[in-house]
Amino acid sequence: MSVRRLAPKELQPASFVFTDENLAWAKQQIAKFPEGRQQSAVIAILWRAQEQNAGWVSEAAIRAVADLLGMAHIRVMEIATFYTMFQLSPVGKKAHVQVCGTTPCMLRGAKDLVEVCKHRIHHDPFHVSADGDFSWEEVECLGACVNAPMVMIWKDTYEDLTPETLNKVLDGFASGNPPEPGPQNGRQFSAPEGGPRVLTSVDGKDKP
Ligand code: FES
Repeated sequence: MSVRRLAPKELQPASFVFTDENLAWAKQQIAKFPEGRQQSAVIAILWRAQEQNAGWVSEAAIRAVADLLGMAHIRVMEIATFYTMFQLSPVGKKAHVQVCGTTPCMLRGAKDLVEVCKHRIHHDPFHVSADGDFSWEEVECLGACVNAPMVMIWKDTYEDLTPETLNKVLDGFASGNPPEPGPQNGRQFSAPEGGPRVLTSVDGKDKP
């Protein structure tokens, strides 16, 4: 886990203004909560701000979200710097790859996935590739351990990866045609690879 700080001043845009559409959406989220609890919409609105801001939250965006919710700027700053779902500096235009590096994924080959990112995107995390299209980082467990190793790109997870299949996933994002999220080895969700392994017979005979 790296230290999470805001991007340096020279990368920070001077302002952030929600689009009319996003502002209307944010107001709908706020209205879902009872009087006095509107701040509970902060994560959803911060996420929308990130989507509007090319995949990362600038300081101006954090302040705009805080102002919208009547929160102290530092409170939204704390949230943005705590959750790795929020990016604090510019990311790749086509994909920001979050590689899970927690124990189950490590035991199943996450280190090899990190090597793919290092060679293909940038040697160091949080650096955008030369063409500006990709960036990567290592994160803690993303809750898909049964399909380890895996990565998350934007809102989707790509699971049961090998270096080869991760390269294919990245090829898909590069060409604007990403593969279906989920397991990349053909299995359905977290069902056993190669089909059922239990309850395969009735009275000692193979099930039809
Ligand atoms: S350890 Fe990687 S998803 Fe949980």
